[in-house]
Amino acid sequence: MDEIRVEHLQKIYQTEQAKRKIFGDLNLNIPTGKLTVLAGRSGCGKTTLLNLLGGLDKPDGGEIILPDDYHSTMLYPEPYLITWTTVLNNISLACGAGLTPLEREKQARGLMELVGLSDCETMTPAQMSSGMKQRLALARALATQSQLLLMDEPFAALDFITRAEMQRQLLHVQQEAPRTIVFVTHQLDEAIVMADQIAVIHADGSAVMLSVDASAHEEDSPAFGVMKKAVMAECMK
Ligand SMILES: Nc1ncnc2c1ncn2[C@@H]1O[C@H](COP(=O)(O)OP(=O)(O)O)[C@@H](O)[C@H]1O
Ligand SMILES: [Mg+2]
Repeated sequence: MDEIRVEHLQKIYQTEQAKRKIFGDLNLNIPTGKLTVLAGRSGCGKTTLLNLLGGLDKPDGGEIILPDDYHSTMLYPEPYLITWTTVLNNISLACGAGLTPLEREKQARGLMELVGLSDCETMTPAQMSSGMKQRLALARALATQSQLLLMDEPFAALDFITRAEMQRQLLHVQQEAPRTIVFVTHQLDEAIVMADQIAVIHADGSAVMLSVDASAHEEDSPAFGVMKKAVMAECMK
């Protein structure tokens, strides 16, 4: 199966005061090996959908059909790291089970290179900038070998230069070894630069998928401007 299928998904939050239907009948196909951005107004259900995709929450109806043996890892705006140990250990401890210590180290070094942290192997998170910490969190997520990476505004806490570097880094990683990535962002420009497709989630819990041509990934291209208008128009509906 080359896609994740979200079929007739329902999610209702019940609090003491009220019942809130987030999704009544959400249908969405998320292709594997691609980067899909979830966009939409605050509160439309993006984090809810990520949690459902990752199995951190259960639907109230419908289903999410994943390919066989699919595992997911969540990446949050605040990186989740082991604060007291080195970059090398942070990554090797995240590597999947069944590896010898030497194999773990080899894999960790490869990932350090991939995210541009090769010169930092003995540093601990306390000695690192926020951009370096987020790259380390990305390396740890990649080390898990999860086929599905769920990213909830992963670059939101970074300054704009570091954010642009992280976007490039993630696209580079995605070129080297593509995974299925579902990425939430509030930044329209970031969405278009990164995405193979953008799922706009509306307030009524429906979603529209817009595919992004590679020519739109360059911010100074005419295709970028056209795409931006199209996504904006869909978000405003
Ligand atoms: N555990 C919960 N219990 C009750 N309501 C929730 C819970 N989680 C989220 N919500 C509500 O569901 C809506 C969608 O939330 P969320 O998925 O976080 O939106 P988004 O990530 O798109 O901003 C919001 O109105 C939010 O307040
Ligand atoms: Mg959210």
